Amino acid sequence: MSEGLSVVSYLGATILFILCLGGLSNQETARRGNVYGIIGMAIAVLATVFGQRVGAAGLPWIIAAMVVGAAAGLYAARKVQMTQMPELVAFMHSLVGLAACLIGFASYVDTSIVFTGAEKTIHEVEIYLGILIGAITFSGSVIAFGKLSGRIGGRPVLLPGRHFINLACLVIVIGFGYAFLHAEAIADGMMPLVVMTIVSLAFGVHMVMAIGGADMPVVISMLNSYSGWAAAATGFMLSNDLLIVTGALVGSSGAILSYIMCNAMNRNFISVIAGGFGSDGKAPAKPAGGAEPSGEVTPITAAETAELLREAKSVIIVPGYGMAVAQAQHAVYQITSLLRERGVNVRFGIHPVAGRMPGHMNVLLAEAKVPYDIVFEMDELNDDFPATDVAMVIGANDTVNPAAAEDPTSPIAGMPVLEVWKAKTSVMMKRSMASGYAGVDNPLFYKENNRMLFGDAKKTLEEVHAALTAG
Ligand code: TAP
Repeated sequence: MSEGLSVVSYLGATILFILCLGGLSNQETARRGNVYGIIGMAIAVLATVFGQRVGAAGLPWIIAAMVVGAAAGLYAARKVQMTQMPELVAFMHSLVGLAACLIGFASYVDTSIVFTGAEKTIHEVEIYLGILIGAITFSGSVIAFGKLSGRIGGRPVLLPGRHFINLACLVIVIGFGYAFLHAEAIADGMMPLVVMTIVSLAFGVHMVMAIGGADMPVVISMLNSYSGWAAAATGFMLSNDLLIVTGALVGSSGAILSYIMCNAMNRNFISVIAGGFGSDGKAPAKPAGGAEPSGEVTPITAAETAELLREAKSVIIVPGYGMAVAQAQHAVYQITSLLRERGVNVRFGIHPVAGRMPGHMNVLLAEAKVPYDIVFEMDELNDDFPATDVAMVIGANDTVNPAAAEDPTSPIAGMPVLEVWKAKTSVMMKRSMASGYAGVDNPLFYKENNRMLFGDAKKTLEEVHAALTAG
């Protein structure tokens, strides 16, 4: 491929990536955005593989690696359950970080291009930063993977003097960076580079281990952002403009998402960046399932729920992680259609951190063909609950927990939640009295106007649907 064609392909791919991000910002255009992304990535890969910098000798290696990578990706994508999606994403982020580290070391020992003077310094700074960000992304994402898949407990591990430890890591990284940049030979620079890598790996582990249950969404979007910056740093190392642009797009969109997540959790963005993660001075959340009953709950049957819905004029459905676990979205859609046919105003309220990944609920509802125009964000309908007859909470817990608004000592105090308890009646669908991801007891269970519909969400919703159809 000629140099000119390569440049044009890179430009085309860049434009397609920007259109892709634009498309993904809205549910109606998300599918088109994905197609743009796929075409852009295909062009980017082909232009790189058949570009000027890959010689004929390297081609078989690259093609063999692509076949192995594509087969693994295809297998993972086909096999993964919707509920495992967040951990798959965390795993992918870890691979980006690992790649940045390996490319950094390879670039450093590669003597085929000799840099001198300022160019040498710039190249070494790129390598150092690339490995630094890559190592933090790698180890942080591995821990996030462990936490999301339940292999590592969700409880924050707060080491004594952890801010001091972080500061010490920073000082070590700067000190060894100085030694690295002043090393005369590759062998001399290797020691500071390896030490910095180990410190960065440890920092990544420490950073994510310190995050408590409800703050995980912020970490996930931050690691998403880091993986973008790691890719951009790799682009600088390899002098690949497209990788720089793509990495910057991922890095900045991840940073914007982190900001949105921080707002959703009412956490301070700066303190998150500095490693505060909102857990300072607060008691760590109890492990999931540790909620203590503190009052009487009023159970309800599927038939009684159908009766409530039959008499309702306005219903707000609040889905959460349990809907994903039960795969109840199709049953939800059937009930929604039936109620809408009968003139009931049915809307969905989506909390920004509902489920286990950004947009988790929207994806499920779109899959079940729930119309986009009745799916609203928390802020758009939180004021409407007092005028709502029935609020149906389907497998959501932390995102509807009144303690966030009413109990200043709660670990989730200050987090905006969907105020379902303000509806005339709220029906909470879940299997038991267990708490949600943050491990915080939920006073909603015991409110006078709340009813508990116990059971697997899909099964109970199907029973409600059957009772509604019969009536
Ligand atoms: P959660 O608070 O996690 O509660 C989910 C509830 O679903 C559980 O209490 C569980 O209760 C119930 N459930 C599980 N399986 C069920 C089934 N088959 N049928 C019916 N119910 C079932 O959910 P949420 O309200 O969506 O909140 C999300 C939480 O995850 C937040 O704390 C958030 O910070 C955190 N988080 C979010 C993300 C992102 S990016 N969204 C990432 C990581 C963590 P039972 O066991 O009693 O059924």
